[in-house]
This record gives sequence, structure tokens and C-alpha cells, in this order.
Amino acid sequence: MEMIQITDLHITKDIENIKNDCKPYQTLSNTLKHIEHHHSNVKDVVITGDLSNDFTRESYMIIRNLLKEYQSTFYILPGNHDKLEHINTICDEQITTNSIDLSMSKTLVYNFDTHVPGKTNGHLKKIQINELNKKLHISKEVDKVIIFTHHPIIEIGSEWIDEHISENSEELIQLMLSHTDKEFKIFSGHVHQEFNSIKNNIEFFTTPSTCYQFKNKSENFALETNLSYGYRVITLHDNSIRTKVLRI
Ligand SMILES: [Fe+2]
Repeated sequence: MEMIQITDLHITKDIENIKNDCKPYQTLSNTLKHIEHHHSNVKDVVITGDLSNDFTRESYMIIRNLLKEYQSTFYILPGNHDKLEHINTICDEQITTNSIDLSMSKTLVYNFDTHVPGKTNGHLKKIQINELNKKLHISKEVDKVIIFTHHPIIEIGSEWIDEHISENSEELIQLMLSHTDKEFKIFSGHVHQEFNSIKNNIEFFTTPSTCYQFKNKSENFALETNLSYGYRVITLHDNSIRTKVLRI
């Protein structure tokens, strides 16, 4: 079984808008076409936040119309550039704020909403940490947990962007470390670059944006112009989780 993560679409109400030498509408459209062409069997696409760049209702309608051209189910969680009330207006059976339901397998998928209205930084909601804890205790047979967030929960080595990770991440990290019988994979967005690190039973990933890229290990804001936009493929096979980034 495969799932796809796309992130940080940054769509504005003007589809011709250029930001950081990139046309986010065009690159999102190219990304979705690429996914359909190369992963036609994939039904589940998770969008980890920053769908809009200008918080307008029009930008969400543009995204909705584009997503509706495809058969996949889109699982959305909000980023710092999103407006929850607008996200809710584009949701239906196919575009949802639910997490992927893998209840027939030994893998649990859980989406964290790290969005804080009016702020750039993220925050993990206590109610969600408690809910995940409960699920982990109830689901004894689950041995793999996939978590999606917009804001990463650890620093990625770029000072200017590390200021805005989820500020109370340690609570979630300690929870995961305490479940030593389970393997956790966390897939985040926000940082417009690929990153990967491991701590005991937890593996952390970030994924390139569908538009412009940021330079990694950078003290200040800097664009990465040598790497193109892309997405992440997550494959569950033989009780293991493999993942790779594809660039377009
Ligand atoms: Fe963001």
C-alpha cells in the first residue's frame, strides 16, 4: 500500500502569481499530474498544510477545483498560512480533515493540527496528544505509527526556520519514546526541504514543497535554486515502511 505526502502549496487567488521565481499553481498542477501518471494506484494523498498563501476564500476554491480533477482522497491538515474556516468550506467525502483509516492493518495514521491562528510557529494540541496516547494504549496490535504534521517537531539545522517548529514537541517525543514496542515515522512540511533523522524508535522526515525550495542548513532565509519541487511517497510493505522523495 502506498500513500503520498504533498505540502506547502502556497496558492493565491491569482493563479498566475509568481513567488520566489515560482508559479505555485503551475507547480502544484504539475505535481498532481506527475503523481497520477507515476502512482495511479495510490488513492490516499495527505496535504500537510500551507495550502493557501493569501488566506483568501478564492485560493481555497482554486485548490478545490484542481483536486477535484483527480480520483484520490485528499487528507488535509492546516499550516500557518491556512484559515480553518476556508479549509472547512472545501471539505467533503473526497477532501477531508480526517486521518487515513488503516484500521484493518497494524499501522495507525494520525494527523496533528499544529496551526495557531495568527502565528507562524506551531503548537501540538494537548487534546490530540492525549487522544493519540489513548489510541496507542487501546491498539495493542499496532506496531507502526505514521504521524503527519505541518510544523516539524524537531529542529532541522536552519536557524531562521527552526524558530517556528512545534513549540511543545517534547511532550509528543516523550510519549513516543515511552512506547518502545512501536515504531514511529513523522512526516512534516513547513520547511520546504527534505530532512531526515532518527532518535530511538522515532524517525523524523520533512518533505519538499510543491513550489519553491529553501536551502538546508542555512542561518538566514535562502532559496534553494538547484533543487526542484516534489513530493513524498510512503510505502507500507511486508510490515515495513519505506519512503522516498520524488522531484519533478
Ligand atoms: Fe508553513
